[in-house]
Amino acid sequence: MELSEALYTTRAMRRVKPDPIPDDVIARIIDAAVRAPSGGNTQRWRFLIVTNHETKSRVQRLYSVGLAELNRTQYKATMDLIENGDPNDPEVIQARKTHRSATWLAENLASVPALLFAFGKPNGESSIYPALWSVQLAARAEGIGTALTTLLFKYYRPEMLEILGAPDDGVWEPFAMLSMGYPTGRWDVAKRQPAHEVSYQERWGEPVSWRVPNPLFSY
Ligand SMILES: Cc1cc2nc3c(=O)[nH]c(=O)nc-3n(C[C@H](O)[C@H](O)[C@H](O)COP(=O)(O)O)c2cc1C
Repeated sequence: MELSEALYTTRAMRRVKPDPIPDDVIARIIDAAVRAPSGGNTQRWRFLIVTNHETKSRVQRLYSVGLAELNRTQYKATMDLIENGDPNDPEVIQARKTHRSATWLAENLASVPALLFAFGKPNGESSIYPALWSVQLAARAEGIGTALTTLLFKYYRPEMLEILGAPDDGVWEPFAMLSMGYPTGRWDVAKRQPAHEVSYQERWGEPVSWRVPNPLFSY
């Protein structure tokens, strides 16, 4: 797959089939991901892949309660927008789509074939995310959809460590969970605010000399 296609179309693909991901595919994905940069090349990461149904069910129970809590708090404005906004407003349509997709994951986590948990050193979050994005890109190249999630560790760190059989001794810190599976839907270019609207030139606040009104990659 062309790098551009992977970069433009690797989105949060939460709806996936229950079909298992073969071990050699998982191995290829993680082997690619460990090429990622890390501060001082310390490579302080651990990846735990869970396919066991009972474990995934326990994770799902916590995840569902956590998402409901997020919807009540951090995402309250988005929830209000979905409920009260103009249903034809593109922002409302997008918010509704993301909400439905997030709800699907919360209701179906146990049927997602693989969950990848990423651990790093305390305060080592910045060295984990390049590797996680590489997991997502490498998975994309294998036709596997992923969704990066952090809510479990925001709310349920001790419970999650117990479920995963990981020590709570402060040596390794859990940062994120990636759901992984073969998508039920189709890939598309991720919708984002245009590049020129989020970039400055030479000095803060000065507009850039170029414009990219539409993505430079399309199917
Ligand atoms: C740091 C971080 C944390 C995230 N946490 C969650 C999460 O807990 N649950 C979830 O469903 N998606 C989570 N996401 C995924 C975002 O919702 C997703 O990247 C965003 O909505 C864009 O979606 P798209 O790529 O499909 O357009 C997270 C993404 C990032 C980068």
